[in-house]
Amino acid sequence: MSPKAKTVYICENCGYETAKWVGKCPNCNEWNTMTEEVAVPLKSNGTVIPTGRIATAKSLSEIDFTEEPRFVTGISELDRVLGGGIVKGSVVLLSGDPGIGKSTILLQICNALQKNLKILYVSGEESAFQIKMRAGRIGVKSDNLSIMTETDVCAVCEYIKSQKPDLVMIDSIQTMQIEGISSSQGSIVQVRESTNMLLRTGKSLEIPVFIVGHVNKGGDIAGPKVMEHIVDTVLYFEGERNQSYRILRGIKNRFGSTNEIGVFEMTETGLKEVENPSAMLLSGRMSEVSGGCITCVIEGTRPILAEVQGLVTPSGFGNARRTATGFDYNRLNLLLAVLEKRLGLGFSNLDAYVNIVGGMRLDEPAADLAVALALVSGLKDVPIDENVIAFGEIGLSGELRSVPRAQARINEAARLGFTKCILPKACIKQISSCPDSLELVGVRSLGQAIGIIKG
Ligand code: TYD
Ligand code: MG
Repeated sequence: MSPKAKTVYICENCGYETAKWVGKCPNCNEWNTMTEEVAVPLKSNGTVIPTGRIATAKSLSEIDFTEEPRFVTGISELDRVLGGGIVKGSVVLLSGDPGIGKSTILLQICNALQKNLKILYVSGEESAFQIKMRAGRIGVKSDNLSIMTETDVCAVCEYIKSQKPDLVMIDSIQTMQIEGISSSQGSIVQVRESTNMLLRTGKSLEIPVFIVGHVNKGGDIAGPKVMEHIVDTVLYFEGERNQSYRILRGIKNRFGSTNEIGVFEMTETGLKEVENPSAMLLSGRMSEVSGGCITCVIEGTRPILAEVQGLVTPSGFGNARRTATGFDYNRLNLLLAVLEKRLGLGFSNLDAYVNIVGGMRLDEPAADLAVALALVSGLKDVPIDENVIAFGEIGLSGELRSVPRAQARINEAARLGFTKCILPKACIKQISSCPDSLELVGVRSLGQAIGIIKG
């Protein structure tokens, strides 16, 4: 009996599959996200038709190991996030909001590598003229850089196979399409199949491929989540459009750690690396203003200082508002509960806002102490001395808990000229040497820490 080609409906947002079309995805509740696809041909009993081929396996010791060869771009903020450079044959997905600088950084990578490598830049979004203009702004030398304005992936892959460039940039995957597939540009099927085709071509020739992927309204990478699974590395470019700082974050990396971040600044002439992010994040700080506290978090391997701002105002309506930007909302509520219950500070009729300056996100519990102190300072309207820095995790009893890498944190604080550091007492024993200019104040509880900032 010949197997019949069936169609299924797949949600573009979450990948949920149904046999019938529905207006609203039962899994993620998004409207109008179902697209039709041809199902895999099955035997009459529902199993997949076998190919008859037997797979082979090797013992681990038989596999010869050589370090992955990498192209080092020399843009150290990028190289670090990639885990030490671009791995040959790897596929990197670069994502982020529109206008954040994805095309800019791709061109800058081209510029950094074009001296020794032959690079192909495929754009489906902009004309060659627009790219040339941007390249002029950044100061790209274009000896080995070829620009292609094309949206047909098959044609691009044929070009790659015949010309064998050393590196390929695709800007963006949502504009690419395979002619034979009837779905429209940017649909789940087109995006997934285009990615797959580029991936196969890149892998077979050991050519690294950078792919730009747009994000949807919710901030997820638009199109299939599966795209994140099939590529080797997913980088996310973050930052506020109207601020100049940009943070490059690894979300997935088969060839390195995902903890590293790279910090850039968007300037007139493209993205500049920020080698000293702490100084950048602290610039523009006002002294003698209540509701601000500096903390030190570890991003990847680096300690970074960040400013936490807390604003407390009487609520106009019955419900108190809580807003957290760059900090976990639930964690903010937890800290407010600790301040109320353990220290008797009343926040129930007050709105509380927490903001992390410079578009940073503080996900580490070590930021707890600075958030709590900023809120207390805001509540009492007592400024915290501008030379004080605080870090430590707060427990539900109001106790201060130890955090890792205290030495690195205090070194960074001393380097930027801070004179007093409030930290959990339990962290003091981790510290082998403390610069003379910095006074360490170990505290056991949040109450003690508040006593210190009040002087
Ligand atoms: P772009 O790389 O085109 O963003 P994406 O590809 O992520 O959509 O960057 C666009 C923004 O960056 C635009 O608002 C202008 C700004 N920009 C600069 O400020 N300086 C520059 O040198 C360049 C090239 C762009
Ligand atoms: Mg772009």
